[in-house]
Amino acid sequence: MAYRFKTDLKWSDVTPKADFLNRRQLMAGAGALALGSIASPALAASIATVPSPYSTDLEPNTLEDITSYNNFYEFGTGKEDPARYASALTTDPWSIKIDGLVDKPGDYGLEDLISDVQMEERIYRFRCVEAWSMVIPWVGFELNQILNKVGVQSGAKYVSFETLVRPEEMRGQKRGYIEWPYREGLRLDEAMHPLTIMATGIYGESMPNQNGAPIRLVVPWKYGFKSIKSIVRISLTDTEPQTSWNMIQPREYGFYSNVNPEVDHPRWSQATERRVGGGVFAKRQDTLMMNGYAEEVMDLYAGMDLSKNY
Ligand code: MTE
Repeated sequence: MAYRFKTDLKWSDVTPKADFLNRRQLMAGAGALALGSIASPALAASIATVPSPYSTDLEPNTLEDITSYNNFYEFGTGKEDPARYASALTTDPWSIKIDGLVDKPGDYGLEDLISDVQMEERIYRFRCVEAWSMVIPWVGFELNQILNKVGVQSGAKYVSFETLVRPEEMRGQKRGYIEWPYREGLRLDEAMHPLTIMATGIYGESMPNQNGAPIRLVVPWKYGFKSIKSIVRISLTDTEPQTSWNMIQPREYGFYSNVNPEVDHPRWSQATERRVGGGVFAKRQDTLMMNGYAEEVMDLYAGMDLSKNY
């Protein structure tokens, strides 16, 4: 691994390095005064970010954990397959088609699309539907920034996302366990929520390929499979979009897939979770309602029966 961090250093102590900061962005950022600490050059972050009040102060998992235990079926179904095979993916140039119910549809080059967004460090809990969890220091920006830029039309109610299809580089796509492309979707209000981010990095560096380079979704209150990787298309629609896991097994994976300790997966309990990197003797932890983000997002589901809308 090219870069590792000492465990006695809090990530907030070392990022971002003042030299790398875009001053105008810094002055505009709400957290500007918190950025005084200067890290040694070896620990320098290469993407300028500001910290966020939405970050948890839990200790993040190591970069090793985050980049060696992955789900990315485009590269195989094993947890080690993405780390082994995702280096084959070309991520530059990259463009994203934005279409459907928007004022300015088009094929946007990634650099142009994100040139003026506010990059932040968001340290989020991440909970996979398989009942493991991590804490990940993402670099990213609120999805609402690009949705506002392209102009969402009044009839739009949902946002759908698609991953790249390129079997020559994504060896798992030569097999048909998923009907490619991998697809995901959100209700428009979920997509506009400030917790919902498009992530372009981890630990201040560009996104590792196995984690969804160059850009992926992160929706921290939902099971991890909603956080679709390596996105090439975003469409605004008036009907609920098809989503990959729901297409494979609708009884097990609903459209919402909010983390909920009270609604079990048909084949296992969701009441507790295993924190990756905790060691073999670590106790399982209680799963939190909405993965700990209930205060921020519960209103989105007022009046809905969460056991039916799973
Ligand atoms: N996105 C794509 N395109 N393909 C996938 O297989 N797996 C999902 C999600 N996004 C997946 C994907 C699942 S099941 C999880 S738990 C997370 O990515 C894992 O993200 P991580 O490997 O960065 O921890």
